[in-house]
Amino acid sequence: MKVLGIETSCDETGVALVEDGGHILSNVVASQVELHARYGGVVPEVASRQHLLTLLPLLRTGLEQAGYRPGGRPAGLGAVAVTFGPGLAGALLVGLNLAKALAWAWDLPLIGVNHLEAHIYAAWLDRPAREQPQFPLLALVVSGGHTEILFVPEHGQYRMVGRTRDDAAGEAFDKVARVLGLPFPGGPAVEQAARGVTPGPRLPRPWLRGSDDFSFSGLKTAVLRLAESADYDPRAMPGVAAAFQEAVVEVLAAKAAAVARRHRVRCLVMAGGVAANQRLRQAVTAAVPLPVICPPISLCTDNGAMVAAAGYFRLQRGERHGWDLDVVPTLRLV
Ligand code: KG4
Ligand code: ZN
Repeated sequence: MKVLGIETSCDETGVALVEDGGHILSNVVASQVELHARYGGVVPEVASRQHLLTLLPLLRTGLEQAGYRPGGRPAGLGAVAVTFGPGLAGALLVGLNLAKALAWAWDLPLIGVNHLEAHIYAAWLDRPAREQPQFPLLALVVSGGHTEILFVPEHGQYRMVGRTRDDAAGEAFDKVARVLGLPFPGGPAVEQAARGVTPGPRLPRPWLRGSDDFSFSGLKTAVLRLAESADYDPRAMPGVAAAFQEAVVEVLAAKAAAVARRHRVRCLVMAGGVAANQRLRQAVTAAVPLPVICPPISLCTDNGAMVAAAGYFRLQRGERHGWDLDVVPTLRLV
């Protein structure tokens, strides 16, 4: 069965058609990065307006790339899935209202999807069935808004193991990038600046001993102090970027490994925008004594395919939403 997935929770507009929760027929993403870059971060009003401008043309492209011609309900389409939270209220509304209109017009089930769950389900995409994640599993979700380790016994069931007490990992990357004079979004910029560079000086590791929680705001402040100190030489920037990345990567990998040793699970799924970081992928794969499944890099950041995959598995369990579904900007998994 085919599911249409729509994603507009932040600054990427995404539309995708996915078959049986894993096989991508089309997956088109319009990034607003350049639009927001001059402000150094996502401007919610600008994001909503841009989703509004982009979404219908993107839908047309997504349907065409999956082999459909405009007009009428696409053959074989079984549901419309859409992110309804967490995210920016105005941005979410654009996607949700299109999803409702399409589901209504085509007489299909509407499935609201949690954006974090969608990130996890990116691990099911474009992978042979025997390589898809097996339950029970652990999920490490590292994105711009969230850093969480979850125990996932079965499809759609989540238990919180640890979460950030302050900044999300991606948020720390974005803020540190700004302090170091690197462009938005900070994650890819820091990774690029740090590539092949010797890290230095050494930065503190926020271990929070005895807890599976994370904290990244102290580390961010340490970089800020360093960059503002009188004897800071901007030519040392790549080393500082590398030192910051190493500190984040080391803490995430070591904590994920410790949690993995205490749970009887089949694998660890790492998802969310920060999971695109190559150093993090290497370090977590090396440290965690379990098969580590990361989505392909292009599917780590926001897209419609992951929404369609998550929606497919909810529909399989007979779930669907009514027309009264509203956006929930602070929606949680647990
Ligand atoms: O999942 P995502 O696209 O959106 C949210 O749900 O937040 O994640 C975006 C975040 C941003 O903070 C961005 O800087 C970070 O993911 N990110 C990265 C990399 N690519 C994106 N962080 C580190 N290394 C990367 N290569
Ligand atoms: Zn996301």
